[in-house]
Amino acid sequence: MQKILLVAGARPNFVKIAPLWREFSKFQSVEVKIVHTGQHFDDAMSQFFFDDLQLPKPDYNLNIHGGSHAVQTGQIMECFDPVVEKEDPDDVIVTGDVNSTLACALVAVKRGIRTSHVEAGLRSFDRTMPEELNRIVTDSVSDLLFVSEDSGLKNLKREGVDQNKVFFVGNVMIDSLTFINSQIKSSTILKHLGIKALNYGLVTLHRPSNVDSPEQLSKIMEWLGDISNDIKLVFPVHPRTKKNLEELSSKRLIKSVNHSNLMIISPQRYIDFQKLLKSARFVITDSGGIQEETTWQGIPCITLRNNTERPVTIDIGTNYLTGDDLNLASTIIKNCIKGTTKQGNIPPLWDGKAASRIAKVIINHHTDRP
Ligand code: UD1
Repeated sequence: MQKILLVAGARPNFVKIAPLWREFSKFQSVEVKIVHTGQHFDDAMSQFFFDDLQLPKPDYNLNIHGGSHAVQTGQIMECFDPVVEKEDPDDVIVTGDVNSTLACALVAVKRGIRTSHVEAGLRSFDRTMPEELNRIVTDSVSDLLFVSEDSGLKNLKREGVDQNKVFFVGNVMIDSLTFINSQIKSSTILKHLGIKALNYGLVTLHRPSNVDSPEQLSKIMEWLGDISNDIKLVFPVHPRTKKNLEELSSKRLIKSVNHSNLMIISPQRYIDFQKLLKSARFVITDSGGIQEETTWQGIPCITLRNNTERPVTIDIGTNYLTGDDLNLASTIIKNCIKGTTKQGNIPPLWDGKAASRIAKVIINHHTDRP
């Protein structure tokens, strides 16, 4: 029997582990357990994703959230270590680039457990992003590296990583999208919000670089207010952004949170959010995963960041990187409204079968321990 621990902590991780859990569950020779670190804990950020993705209740919930990056990472390590000791798995699998990814990879390798990183090799080359540090460290300690796009292969090669550890498997996030794609149709979220397909832009922002500075956040909110004069905007607000917006409002540092055409709503569950994304005229974001989801759905994406660790979404997909050049972003949005933006294609191996490729490697490379 091969025992595997699948780790997830934050919203994007749930989307990434779901296809892996389904795939490994097909094998009688494999026992797979889910460890939730607790990094994201609101129902809307966690439980509803488990429901929509038909994931079972986690076998462990470490209930760690909040705190500085170091404290959060340290506390997750402290609580994950006894789980690894007790379960003594053959494999630990971590996904993405959040603090839980780094914390659990470190624990697993320190205990000599084979550790796999799914979504390896991505680099923004911006070390001010906590995710970039998480990616670099997780890749450098992991035993098996599963890569979602060509840039990841190049980055790992340039860093001198042993190529026998590296596997180009495609994108597990897309596996989840293909899994729920037919259910997107039945979502009633547009009706519920009173909006019509293609008549609005969807907005998500939660990166510290955009939402933690009051000046930057109020500048962006003023700009969104202006855009909403031309087209309705729907903005599901992440808890980090919500907290910062509330502070701006209470200190009266902002006047435009309440534009009538700018709908600020709570975080949406996975299927409803994908309905909003697929039906939008364009998406404005600073998320990593949403750059990929818009590329796969062929929806124009305006990314308010100076860099992206997912360049394939620009080179092949529908993504535009505008940084904090809001004039450039406005021009692209005008083109989206006119329908004159690039069409984009789907990157190689984003075909809904990444998890099955990963499972093959992890199961075929398994040797029973004495
Ligand atoms: C984290 C990840 C980021 C990822 C994002 C997805 C790191 C360094 N960052 O950022 O890469 O893109 O998740 O959403 O791991 N909070 C709640 N309820 C929740 C979740 C969070 O109130 O369910 C609060 C937290 O208590 C904290 C803030 O939101 O005050 C930020 O949460 P945290 O997990 O630290 O980072 P994110 O900004 O969500």
